Amino acid sequence: MARRLSGREALRLLPTLRADPLTAISELTRAHGDLVRVPLPRGNQLVLTSRPELVGHVLVSNQDNYRKARTYRPLTEVLGNGLLTNEGESWAHQRKLVQPMFARRRIDAFAPAMVDAASTAMDRWTALGSGSVVDVADEMSALTLDVVGRALFSTDLSGEASQMAPALETVLESFVKVVRHPLFLFVPDYHRWPTPARLRLRARGAERHLRSVVDGLIARRRPETPGRAETADRADSPGRADNDLLDALLAARDDDGNPLDEQQIRDELMTFLLAGHETTANALAWTLLLLSRHPDARDRLVAEVDDVLSGRAATAADVTKLEWTSAVLSESMRLYPPAWMIEREARDADELDGIPVPAGSIVATPPYLVHRNPDHWPNPEGFDPHRFLPGAAGRHRLAYLPFGGGRRQCIGGGFAMLEAVLLLATITQRFELDLVPGHQPQALTAVTLRPANGIPMTLRPRTNAA
Ligand code: HEM
Repeated sequence: MARRLSGREALRLLPTLRADPLTAISELTRAHGDLVRVPLPRGNQLVLTSRPELVGHVLVSNQDNYRKARTYRPLTEVLGNGLLTNEGESWAHQRKLVQPMFARRRIDAFAPAMVDAASTAMDRWTALGSGSVVDVADEMSALTLDVVGRALFSTDLSGEASQMAPALETVLESFVKVVRHPLFLFVPDYHRWPTPARLRLRARGAERHLRSVVDGLIARRRPETPGRAETADRADSPGRADNDLLDALLAARDDDGNPLDEQQIRDELMTFLLAGHETTANALAWTLLLLSRHPDARDRLVAEVDDVLSGRAATAADVTKLEWTSAVLSESMRLYPPAWMIEREARDADELDGIPVPAGSIVATPPYLVHRNPDHWPNPEGFDPHRFLPGAAGRHRLAYLPFGGGRRQCIGGGFAMLEAVLLLATITQRFELDLVPGHQPQALTAVTLRPANGIPMTLRPRTNAA
């Protein structure tokens, strides 16, 4: 079913679209089906679709016609020309450069660092004592930052978490304010205006703080003498891979043999620092919440983890055996996809199931809605990890896209799944967590789908772990 809203209907919708986009797009889809065209002021168009076939057209088969939408522009203020925000030839060159870092064999080498980070966090929880309450949203954020630091930069970033979290919060908050401002649709470089949100960002020094972390990473690694071997920050990193992402970036040469310029390296590091931890943290936090609401699924998880690991530390080789653990995470990302929205902008006019897509239209293909499309998912609102067990019914390949699709799909998908399975298994070996009674976690649609008011959970150490 395809539907084009009238100008009046669209105007009525605008305030909700800005204030609470998740509700707005969910209601639009409920009322009008999985393809809706919304005329916006000044000739702008929003085309919203949650039909996997059409999502495939935009992200894969006709992807040459779709660039990243202008809604990503404010992110370039912080991420510059990093892999997530860059376009064209320069993006393709960067992707080729970084891709080998994410080959299966390389990713598996990060497993010991991942498990070590999780064990350190579990030791800290143990010291807090049974019955203590932790906010798993914050905890998972600190843990995944620690993992990215160890795995990609061979550096201990755990001490940074307490300062980085508020800095990141401020940056993302200002991003959302800009994108949802009415002027954003009309003024191409509105994101550069000295708006109160932007000035606040500067005043709080949030961007500056994040940059200083990145500069510190580079400074500690730069070869000061040709004989550089292991610098202090790398030598004590357990499970460190032969070369990490920072090595690869510093060693990269263009076709003329020139190294990447300093700014490019900074942008790339900032991108991986942000894209590489916030998403996985949210996936894990939502998963722990779902498990506390579904004790049967949690019991099966505990049984599987104990059976496969028999009390020892998890390794990359265990992941294929941890089928239920993986299925739980996949189902959690179906219901709460950390990257809840993917948007593109049409270069030339196109058509989606008979609906014209004028050049310049924003085409929104939100995983959040695709994953709940009732034509593709029976009982779409229900939590059922069986959907992802080997042998489960097949589905359209774009009915599930937590990591996106086409050329721009997540480079860190394999890393994220390995990390999430190992972290969840390590947590499950040591603790059961229950949501504090009466707390109602809310989803906040910032850049990622994050818990708005935290997820406080009570720690129950497992005494009968194998
Ligand atoms: C559960 C965790 C994660 C989720 C759900 C996720 C999701 C996504 C999605 C949907 C995209 C595509 C965005 C678009 O098409 O507009 C993307 C891109 C990207 N992700 Fe992830 N991601 C996750 C973890 C990671 C990790 C761990 C890393 C790095 C280690 C990472 C690095 C990136 C980068 C660099 C891009 C841009 C790729 C490009 O355009 O070439 N992500 N991610």
